[in-house]
Amino acid sequence: MPEKKEKFYLTTPIYYTNGLPHIGHTYTTVVADVVRRYKRMRGYDVVMTTGTDEHGVNVERAAQKAGVPESEYVAKMADAWRALWDELGIPADEFVRTTDLKHVRTVQWLFKLCKENGYVYKGHYTGQYCIYDNAFVNDAKPGDNCPDCGRPLETITEENYFFKLSSFQKPLLDFYKKNPSFIQPDTRRNEIISFVEGGLRDLSITRTTIRWGIPVPGEEPHVFYVWFDALTAYLSAVGGPEYEKRGYWPADLHLVGKDIIRFHTVYWPAFLMAAMLPAPKQVWAHGWFLMDTAKMSKSKGNVVLPRPIVNMLGMDALRYFLLRDVVFGQDGNFSYDALVTRYNSDLANGLGNLASRTAALIEKNFAGKIPKPDALKPQDEVLAKEAQAAIGEVLENFDKLSFARALETIWTVIAAADKYLTSEQPWALGNSEAEQSRKSTVLWTTAELLRIVSALAFPVLPDSAAKVWTLLGQSDALGKFELDGLRWGQLAVGTSLGKSQTLFPRVDKTEAIERIEAMANEELNPTPAIPAPAASAPTATGTSAAAAAAPAVSDKIGIEDFAKVEMRVGQIKTAERIVGADKLLKLTVDIGTEIRQICAGIAQYYEPESLIGRKVAVVVNLAPRKLRGVESNGMIVAASVGPEGRPVLTGFHEEVEVGARLK
Ligand code: MSP
Repeated sequence: MPEKKEKFYLTTPIYYTNGLPHIGHTYTTVVADVVRRYKRMRGYDVVMTTGTDEHGVNVERAAQKAGVPESEYVAKMADAWRALWDELGIPADEFVRTTDLKHVRTVQWLFKLCKENGYVYKGHYTGQYCIYDNAFVNDAKPGDNCPDCGRPLETITEENYFFKLSSFQKPLLDFYKKNPSFIQPDTRRNEIISFVEGGLRDLSITRTTIRWGIPVPGEEPHVFYVWFDALTAYLSAVGGPEYEKRGYWPADLHLVGKDIIRFHTVYWPAFLMAAMLPAPKQVWAHGWFLMDTAKMSKSKGNVVLPRPIVNMLGMDALRYFLLRDVVFGQDGNFSYDALVTRYNSDLANGLGNLASRTAALIEKNFAGKIPKPDALKPQDEVLAKEAQAAIGEVLENFDKLSFARALETIWTVIAAADKYLTSEQPWALGNSEAEQSRKSTVLWTTAELLRIVSALAFPVLPDSAAKVWTLLGQSDALGKFELDGLRWGQLAVGTSLGKSQTLFPRVDKTEAIERIEAMANEELNPTPAIPAPAASAPTATGTSAAAAAAPAVSDKIGIEDFAKVEMRVGQIKTAERIVGADKLLKLTVDIGTEIRQICAGIAQYYEPESLIGRKVAVVVNLAPRKLRGVESNGMIVAASVGPEGRPVLTGFHEEVEVGARLK
């Protein structure tokens, strides 16, 4: 009988459905996937949950705006979230929606337990409420703005059920003391302890002003307040009231962003204590990915999307960057420049180059079979020791969720192997017996190092590490390989190399960034489908050539769709090149009502000076976005000519007034 595996249950937050995933959300889900893969390689039976948080006033409003029932709206959004995680190779084992029946039952059951145990009572509440964050803001006055998102608060009075959070000050402080690793990192733990020491107020957990929520049985129109509802999703995902049967509760790890740590480390354990259910073992709060020093949000127009990056560089590159560039737990600035630089240096020139060089040398000198190592020189032993030591270090760092450190260790070993190859020069050795034997030793050593590196890197680079693994002729699935058994010296002599595949083709930085940005712009502001002959179709040149492809001609649109695009005559006032972006020009354009800054992908075809005073057609109602860090507020319309999509600006043969609308 095989030994029963220990269970490990981890979660991401369940995401709001009034938007679509950006890099910030992707970050949490990627981390969860890395931990899942890592734990599986350490022999655990792992379940990872993610899902969608579908109730509340924001959804009510979004559905109303879209003119569809809430249920239809959230179903579409949940599908979109689920589909993106699938596409990115980070699907959940359990995808929980707060509109799932099993979840509804779990919330009602949890409430019943809390009530039976005397921790719930009815009262009235008047407070300042942020409808965007779904939270009352304690200490706020009427007219204040939300301290988190800066938007105006609303005064709300209503009959609520209250949860006696105040009864849990001591039990929570005792719990933190008994479980010192419950809140991670330590700085967050200290913050939460002082918050709880400062005293806890009872918490309103139902609403009567909101319609779109889980009903409190027998107490309609009360519906559950979003955090009582949302947090319970972690339990609904693994059995709800029958959680003991599945055996995954309590959760081992809740991964959350720093903005929601309080809900997870104060409310959530208190709800569970009140219901006499086990509390989770650990909550880990990571920092934010910032764009231009601000948290990403669609309203600020500074979101970074995952799909364009993945299309250009691959998912492994994105995963590597997210985990390597920022210390887990701290904030980090996102920059395309840093992303592509890391891709080229660590992945293309680092791991990719070492793997292809080694395989090519074994192919050429040993007919593609792993050679037998012979007498060892001190430098071989040094490298072996370094790789062996890395195994322990990397596992220790993965255990602590110190991903950047784990990757740094792996890449130090890769750099050492690179140096070793360069100084040993196996390609310069001849065919004498002594030289052949030296060649064998050097290439076996490098191949063995690559095997170890690919096993260690697998949780972060599942596709490419598996490719290196297969390249080294390893036939078992790397994801199932048990890291506890990984040792230096296991690479079997005579193993035939697998098919060689390109891992990380080098990219031109400027070109790559422009293409990513163009794809992102297209995803955020899809080109309207304007029927027109392909070759002379007007295209918007606020993007680079990739996005300036001719719009689809097959689908006809109604006039009301066309009317959504507001185009006006603009006059170019200034034009200049943008350092580091050879295709873009930064323009200021008078559109009649104001002067706009617009970036246009025309730098290779128009001299800046030749544009001053020229009248062009401008799409003026596009959401602002950034191109190479420069704000662009609108699009200049141009024809896209020839196979390379050369932009040709529109012009007017008669006098037109600046600001006139194009219809
Ligand atoms: N629905 C709640 C969570 C309920 S969990 C029981 C929620 N949803 S959210 O969609 O707004 O955010 C989900 C997670 O994404 C949070 O952990 C948040 O910190 C994270 N991120 C959102 N933007 C982020 C960045 N820019 N960077 C890193 N993570 C950030 O809150």
